[in-house]
Amino acid sequence: MTIEWTGPRHFSLDPKDPAFYQNPYHYYAQLHERGGPLFWEQYGMWCLAGFKQVDRALRDKRFARLPPPGFERPPYPKHLAAFAQTEKFSLLALEPPDHTRLRRLVNRAFVSRQVETMADDIRQLTNDCIDQFAADGQAELLAQFATPIPVTVIARLLGVPKIHTADLLNWSHAMVKVYTMTQSREDEIAANQASVAFMDFLDELLKQRRKQPDNNLLSHLIAQQREPDGPSNDEIMSIAILLLNAGHEATVHQIGNAIADIIRHPPANPRWWDDPQTSDQVVAECLRHDAPLHLFTRYAQQEVDLGNGVSIDAGTEIALLLGAANRCPIQFANTDDFEPLRSPNANVSLGAGLHFCVGAPLARLELRIALSTLFGRLPNLTLTSDPLYTDSFHFHGLSALHVNW
Ligand code: HEM
Repeated sequence: MTIEWTGPRHFSLDPKDPAFYQNPYHYYAQLHERGGPLFWEQYGMWCLAGFKQVDRALRDKRFARLPPPGFERPPYPKHLAAFAQTEKFSLLALEPPDHTRLRRLVNRAFVSRQVETMADDIRQLTNDCIDQFAADGQAELLAQFATPIPVTVIARLLGVPKIHTADLLNWSHAMVKVYTMTQSREDEIAANQASVAFMDFLDELLKQRRKQPDNNLLSHLIAQQREPDGPSNDEIMSIAILLLNAGHEATVHQIGNAIADIIRHPPANPRWWDDPQTSDQVVAECLRHDAPLHLFTRYAQQEVDLGNGVSIDAGTEIALLLGAANRCPIQFANTDDFEPLRSPNANVSLGAGLHFCVGAPLARLELRIALSTLFGRLPNLTLTSDPLYTDSFHFHGLSALHVNW
């Protein structure tokens, strides 16, 4: 497949074509050659792909996740009513002042100092996972390693009992499909059913935590309800659902992509993991080189000049290609090379600005522990088949990762 240029700045590229989602970087390189902004026919949107343009737009108050007053996002269809309800008070669906108020409530749980206290627990969990397959000489690391760690961590942080981990995974897998813009009606119905089940479950759990508080985030949020600007029940539910969905889906994919990247680019140096600085550098390069989330959108709050003679009206939705920005040749020398100790490495995988990933310190910690423990215990990992990415361009992650040692 090739990019078809339908005008000097207009292109046609099928996001559902396997050639694209298996290696989007090949196509991003062609977008970088043209320079932005570029109009993507299939999405009907102007896109930004250059690092500086994407980074600036994420921080620019003239863009927001919601349309400006007087413009409405197209409403969700009736068969997505429950899904829409879960999103209503999501941090990703709010702007200040509500965003500021709710983000402050969860921020405290995710600041680096607080997150570091979870390190021993995450290391234990990671070792327990490896114990399950270490003697086998082979494993499918996506299911056996990358999947169980993030969901267990976020469930513990919230205070969701362990027996519900499988339900959380199923609900989340079903719900995130709606964000791909390429979902079928069946996917939407499944996402809505998952939303109903998830809300019923949380409703019950909140009742229990009200009677018997513990030391976890849900109980902390319930306690905040006594404050004048504390969260409502619906807000707590939206926060919990967003944290569970955002908190594990991207992390699973990033762990898988990072393991594959490291194996594909030998030699992995065991000493990277001895020093916090070098381990942070390796994690940053994994995030840059093969990020799990490739596209987020923003609405112009006023008329905006995007450069190169392209001006957009207030209310226009544009696409920010995070995965492309991370491979911008102007920002990163040898941009397609995997250079574990690359520095500086200010990539946009975790976003920037107001909606910068609240779970970033936790995501980085999980990655550091997962990668260092895995490669520390099994330094000779080899791929036994070429790993393939799932059929969604937005969530760029592997469907399986077969290895032996
Ligand atoms: C490698 C893993 C992760 C990646 C690549 C990632 C990426 C991102 C990105 C790009 C955004 C910004 C979206 C935008 O600007 O429109 C974001 C926001 C968010 N992330 Fe993450 N994330 C990861 C892990 C986590 C974890 C572990 C949690 C929580 C436990 C989390 C919770 C959130 C939340 C709640 C937001 C919304 C913040 C807001 O709107 O203020 N993420 N994430």
